[in-house]
Amino acid sequence: MVSVSHSLERRLILGIESSCDETAVALVRQDRTIFAQRIASQEEEHAPYGGVVPEIAARAHAERLAPMLEAVMDDAGLSLADVDAIAATAGPGLIGGVMVGLVSGKALAMAADKPLLAINHLEGHALSPRLADASLEFPYLLLLVSGGHCQILSVEGVGQYQRLATTIDDALGEAFDKTAKILGLGYPGGPAVERLATEGDASAVPLPRPLKGSKEPHFSFAGLKSAVLRAADSGLHKPADIAASFQQAAVDCLIDRLEMALNTAGPFPALVVAGGVAANQTVRGALETLAEKHNMRFTAPPLALCTDNAAMIAWAGCERLAVDPDFAGDPLDLKARPRWPLDPEAEAVRGAGVKA
Ligand code: KG4
Ligand code: ZN
Repeated sequence: MVSVSHSLERRLILGIESSCDETAVALVRQDRTIFAQRIASQEEEHAPYGGVVPEIAARAHAERLAPMLEAVMDDAGLSLADVDAIAATAGPGLIGGVMVGLVSGKALAMAADKPLLAINHLEGHALSPRLADASLEFPYLLLLVSGGHCQILSVEGVGQYQRLATTIDDALGEAFDKTAKILGLGYPGGPAVERLATEGDASAVPLPRPLKGSKEPHFSFAGLKSAVLRAADSGLHKPADIAASFQQAAVDCLIDRLEMALNTAGPFPALVVAGGVAANQTVRGALETLAEKHNMRFTAPPLALCTDNAAMIAWAGCERLAVDPDFAGDPLDLKARPRWPLDPEAEAVRGAGVKA
């Protein structure tokens, strides 16, 4: 057994993530040591349906979580007695999956008499860059782009988030996935669209940039998706040109909305990107250029921390305990939340925070 010190700055948190199609468990200490982490993707289960099926996701989490918890403890050579708190995603997300993870977290917290930390999945994404980079200080401008979310946030401190933009319909990852489906590229679509786009001409297909120039703090990708469908149905364009033109339109929307956020809430010392779409090189390149233009430092966590994972959930727990070391834990009757905005002041928007 490894011996673990339990000083305030070195508390050890067990993280559980199950809000979408990744089952994940991680053990992270406040000094940023990741003792162990495991992740199981459900890509194969959902691929025949071209998207995540909630009931299948919940069942897969239920089957995998207990053995994964045991495996992570074994990997680290630790036992539950060594853990200082249990952090579990309590929302937002697909409710069946969230319940599986949260109930498991509650049971462990109760059995081992440890505090339960109910974590907002979006807070996990928002703080994950600080797990990867100890020098990243608050505040920073965060672009969160995944299959379920498309938001711009001002991250001002732990628990202090101001939403500067969100989508009124599809998330960007979802738009990539739908474009892949239209072009017959399979699921998940983002990487496939990016690959095909390298062979295409980004100016070949005229596509809209929804809400470009708008003063509203919103994204919209539904119209872009419909335009992709029309372009594909017309038979006038090569699939590679459609992929490249779609990707460029999406990037233009991201940059336009970030400029809007900088105008209304800037300046910021750093621009940070998180979420699965952060893997996209064209997106990253455009963000780097924007950051340079505005004298911002640009940072993106390693991909394994960008996409859904449990280290970010454990880390959010570490951050919470760092600002409130005596926190006794969230109540064990706390409910899982399908919707849970990070910024309670922000106006509720139909497409925000939940995967369609
Ligand atoms: O963060 P993530 O793993 O899961 C959540 O949705 O929360 O993000 C997955 C999304 C999918 O929609 C996927 O198509 C997209 O990220 N994605 C990409 C790329 N890699 C993954 N989109 C564009 N380009 C990529 N290279
Ligand atoms: Zn996510």
